[in-house]
Amino acid sequence: MIKETDFLVIGSGIAGLSFALKVANHGKVILISKNSLEESNTKYAQGGIAAVTYEPDNFEKHIKDTLIAGDGLCNKETAEMVVREAPAQIKQLIDWGVNFDQNEKGKYDLGKEGGHSENRVLHHKDKTGEEIQNSLVDKVKKHNNIEVLENHFAVDLITQHHLGKLVKRSHNNTECYGAYVLDLQTDKVNAFLAKITLIATGGTGNLYDTTTNPKIATGDGIAMVYRAKGIIENMEFIQFHPTSLYNPGEKPSFLITEAMRGFGAILKTVAGNKFMLKYDKRGSLAPRDIVARAIDHEMKITGDDHVVLDCTHLDPRKLKDHFPNIYQKCLSLNIDFTKNPIPVIPAAHYMCGGVKVDENGASTINKLYAIGEVSSTGLHGANRLASNSLSEAVVYADRAAKDSIKRINLITINSDIPEWDSHGTTYPEEMIMITQNYKEVQQIMSNYVGIVRSNLRLERALKRLAIIYVETEELYEKSILSQKLCELRNLINVGYLILKMAKDLHESRGLHYTIDYPKKGTFSEF
Ligand code: FAD
Ligand code: SIN
Repeated sequence: MIKETDFLVIGSGIAGLSFALKVANHGKVILISKNSLEESNTKYAQGGIAAVTYEPDNFEKHIKDTLIAGDGLCNKETAEMVVREAPAQIKQLIDWGVNFDQNEKGKYDLGKEGGHSENRVLHHKDKTGEEIQNSLVDKVKKHNNIEVLENHFAVDLITQHHLGKLVKRSHNNTECYGAYVLDLQTDKVNAFLAKITLIATGGTGNLYDTTTNPKIATGDGIAMVYRAKGIIENMEFIQFHPTSLYNPGEKPSFLITEAMRGFGAILKTVAGNKFMLKYDKRGSLAPRDIVARAIDHEMKITGDDHVVLDCTHLDPRKLKDHFPNIYQKCLSLNIDFTKNPIPVIPAAHYMCGGVKVDENGASTINKLYAIGEVSSTGLHGANRLASNSLSEAVVYADRAAKDSIKRINLITINSDIPEWDSHGTTYPEEMIMITQNYKEVQQIMSNYVGIVRSNLRLERALKRLAIIYVETEELYEKSILSQKLCELRNLINVGYLILKMAKDLHESRGLHYTIDYPKKGTFSEF
């Protein structure tokens, strides 16, 4: 089957939903999501969305904090643009029905997180993401011009390659005509042809066995664009959130928001010793790369499986009021955080790199945009400032929408695209081939490409990944496609890109820390 539309939106997190709402009055939108419309990284966001609202905060301070966190690798123009445009886009979210908490004076209650010099994080208790996701999903479902297709998995982008022409990464005339999409109910792959295609597929957390990301975060968008010969960058900068709840076996790891540290909670060893001031004068509220590395280091010194986040010295009533979701979660594990410290460990959380885009979210492939976590805009540099990703997503949704609306009437759909060829494929005999390789990829990345790296570990990981790559490609060629097989293939592609870029960076920068090039003035691994 071949379906045609003006805008094809792949992904239903804050980025895809916002874009869909902005373009829907200018053409027909098909929005596909591989799971339910509600499931996304966005849904799990806790701390909130960063933007300048009141004095003494100002744009210069937010820009400076972003650049400092990014360890010198942010694009300054991008940071200025996102910071200045974020307030208007947050107002748009509020107009769409999103509620942010206010204080008794009717002003927004602003939280603080690591690396921020001011309180500037708008939030909805400790469930900001759910509030945003539900409000946008509601709006999208009501829009007559948006057709929603859940349980539809984008497999590959369609380009001139599918018309038998040579496509190279160095070419600047590659065009995107839509995507091949696997209908998870029928196991059939259909061609979705579009004038404009938007990738908003989110992150890559499931490359690691401990992650805060839900199962959907398997780097599909990055892998698809890479295979379609688009440019991918900054993949070595994977952010580990310092504080996920230590509860072995639970997947995804439950996040303990950084806003708790902004509220006064302190990191300690299991024995009760504060340690962060040894590493950074900002203590528990230093940027994430530093805190995650410090925790990793302390766990190695003490041999403990985790550290703890102590908030027992804080007002219990206010704590429970601000963090009701975390309170209930901890209580379900017999941890009353007003009386006992919370056991925490770092977990893979956010991909700072991704599909290289310009100031409008346009990728290096014509008619293909990428926004949200899947993209690399230059905002985050070597380390993202907390709560900047939701702001980035809405600013770029607006820019990509405006840019594509301008072009939509000048583009025609390419109707020569062939249907998906599944000739000669069969169902894999044993799913274990896929599930075991999936686990092995996670182990390789967790053990060799984590918070602290070395040339030897990266080399070893590349060799191991190469074996799994060959096995998986062979299986892919002869199989009727399944979600798990496509996700495995994508994770391998993304793992390769991370390893390659990490190996090529001969220094420690932000989230990429290697013992072979230790950074002056920081602690070494041991
Ligand atoms: P997502 O919200 O992840 O949406 C991706 C969508 O794409 C999903 O609908 C998915 O099903 C779909 N998809 C993926 N692959 C395919 C495919 N092949 N075919 C079809 N559909 C596909 N950031 C902040 O700024 N503030 C916070 O407080 C914050 N807290 C966080 C807490 C947690 C626990 C996590 C995990 C992240 C947090 N982040 C936070 C990061 C932030 O939530 C994400 O970066 C952001 O929500 C990403 O939005 P997105 O729209 O780009 O992607
Ligand atoms: C958190 O609430 O700690 C997560 C914020 C983020 O990832 O930006």
